[in-house]
Amino acid sequence: MCSFAAQAETLPDRQAELDASVKKAGQAYLQPRALSAIPEGEFGDKVRKGYQLFVNSQQMRDKYVGNNLNCSNCHMDAGRKANAAPLWAAYFAYPAYRKKNDKVNSYEERLQGCFTYSMNGKPPASGSEELVALSAYSYWLGMSGLMDQAGVSSPVPALSDAELLKGGKRDDFAMPAAVKAAMTLEQRAKLPGKAYPKIPAPEQAYSPERGKAVYQAHCQSCHNVDGQGYETAGVYSLPPLWGPQSFNWGAGMHRVNTAAYFIYENMPFGKSIQLTNQQAWDVAAYINAKERPQDPRFKGDINKLQQQYHQHQGYYGKSVAGQTELGSKAYKINPKKAE
Ligand code: HEC
Ligand code: HEC
Repeated sequence: MCSFAAQAETLPDRQAELDASVKKAGQAYLQPRALSAIPEGEFGDKVRKGYQLFVNSQQMRDKYVGNNLNCSNCHMDAGRKANAAPLWAAYFAYPAYRKKNDKVNSYEERLQGCFTYSMNGKPPASGSEELVALSAYSYWLGMSGLMDQAGVSSPVPALSDAELLKGGKRDDFAMPAAVKAAMTLEQRAKLPGKAYPKIPAPEQAYSPERGKAVYQAHCQSCHNVDGQGYETAGVYSLPPLWGPQSFNWGAGMHRVNTAAYFIYENMPFGKSIQLTNQQAWDVAAYINAKERPQDPRFKGDINKLQQQYHQHQGYYGKSVAGQTELGSKAYKINPKKAE
């Protein structure tokens, strides 16, 4: 069995908050090519595999995934939707330098972060087939869009696994000359539609109590009364928002602001941008003031962890409306499906 204590010693903070920027009116977004344009052959197979893992992450259940989510539940339309943290924008933002620990975060390390926290799992090893495939898929989406934008209609050039894993924000990153000339490295790292767009701070301090009413009116029909979503024949098409099968206390989505940005822009599913700014904050507070799987960096002391990693808008280590301290009844990290 893998020891969580040992893992926690070395777990880096790979869920640092992204720079969110406000959406601009009339913004045009990069258009990746249709999936049917993924080429035949070895490179195309990696891209297709990455797509498969991303939309049906449950095939990695018990190996790398410890909850009922799929990557595409939060990175919508298979990682293609602008303003839902699209992969095509992410790929060209890594490797990223992190001021906090003066460390370079490669693309594969960022992918690993979402396995550890958002998927409450255990990340595939550096260089593994899965990380290569997910990197290849992200690269292909992004590069196909950039090539079309620059008028280059040839197939997306294949890259070695080692190159794919690092990410595209490098001066020595190979790309067609017209693509390189069209934008600077910094512009490619901040493509419009990246991440979840920032919304203004709420007029009134966000409130889980008010959020409950928003939840009942706008969310419950799909995410269920108890927030656990719905499954049919063992498949969750409507994902859980809290509880043992959701993202854990270290995940970016547990921050009230990040969830509010996501929700305002992307929920209710199929409608989007139905809630007021205040409603988005309140309902984000409501779903994030519920117990969920433990933060994998937990070493037995909630307050210490709270001090170290939770100096942001979230409820870890806090007590809300008569509940016990959140985190103290947290669910298991990376459980097996049968547990
Ligand atoms: C519960 C929601 C959720 C799930 C599920 C999820 N992610 Fe994420 N992901 C996030 C959030 C939140 C961020 C950071 C956004 C922020 O801080 O604004 C993020 C960031 C990322 C980024 C960096 C984006 C950027 O623009 O820099 C990548 C790449 C990524 N995730 C890949 C994955 C992969 C691969 C999976 C599945 C193994 C996955 N995610 C599952 C919520 C999720
Ligand atoms: C019509 C059904 C529907 C409604 C209503 C709805 N959602 Fe969702 N929600 C979904 C689906 C489906 C997904 C997964 C998206 C995907 O896989 O493309 C999702 C994903 C999510 C996620 C990210 C994945 C996870 O499980 O954490 C959050 C957070 C979320 N919804 C919150 C809300 C909130 C808050 C509301 C109410 C304001 C809401 N949703 C309303 C269907 C719905």
